[in-house]
Amino acid sequence: MSLSHQSTKLQEVRAEILSLLKVLYDKVDLERKFGAKFLQLTPTEKIHTSSEKDVTSPQLIQKSLFDAHKEKEKVELSKSDKIERLKELEEQVNQCTKCGLCKNRTNVVFGTGAPDADLMFVGEAPGYYEDVQGEPFVGRAGQLLTKIIESIGLKRSDVYIANILKCRPPENRNPTANEIILCKPHLIEQIDIIRPKVICALGTFAAQTLLDTKETIGKLRGKFHDFQDTKLLATYHPAYLLRNPNDKKKVWEDIKKGA
Ligand code: URA
Repeated sequence: MSLSHQSTKLQEVRAEILSLLKVLYDKVDLERKFGAKFLQLTPTEKIHTSSEKDVTSPQLIQKSLFDAHKEKEKVELSKSDKIERLKELEEQVNQCTKCGLCKNRTNVVFGTGAPDADLMFVGEAPGYYEDVQGEPFVGRAGQLLTKIIESIGLKRSDVYIANILKCRPPENRNPTANEIILCKPHLIEQIDIIRPKVICALGTFAAQTLLDTKETIGKLRGKFHDFQDTKLLATYHPAYLLRNPNDKKKVWEDIKKGA
């Protein structure tokens, strides 16, 4: 084989490897968006490339993943399944060191409440008291959230409460884009286990993160949106209400829609 022939062959092999890596990358990326913890090696349909080798197309892989997700949706989870899966997930999240917030945390604040809640609240991130106690919404904003929950005839133990970030940002600063990207899969998996009928996003970060938008909370609040086939209601964050008590009325009105 001539040198130039060998080099052409090498380039072809290189191109093939790069295209396979791209397929793998797309697959892992998509699975992460669904909160998958492992690689699911079940692609079935094949296409032919120019070099007549069998390669799974990215479109087919994505289609099969969507189908798998729908299948997963159909499988009912009993309350004990949910308890078990949340426990496993919590153990995993407790070990998480994906971002720098793990260095200063006292506790991971995983989430709390009914594993089969119909209504799930999602806040921003733990503050000082949440970090110390390992439970979401236990400070002043938390006490107001408890009142909001009670205003619709429920108890904290009837709903599920979690945050976008599971660890406290220093000095309660805003979550960074990177922290959100790294922590979001934990929340997606929590939602996938609990399968609430309504998610109530509290404040800008929760609403923008779950709805993947930059729209202001003022525009998003009070309406039902769609989050992966689950109704999502956005409203103001209780900490905002502590600073702007005149807007409490708007939150009572919003929250009644989710009850
Ligand atoms: N604010 C939040 O967003 N979450 C908490 O857990 C506490 C305060």
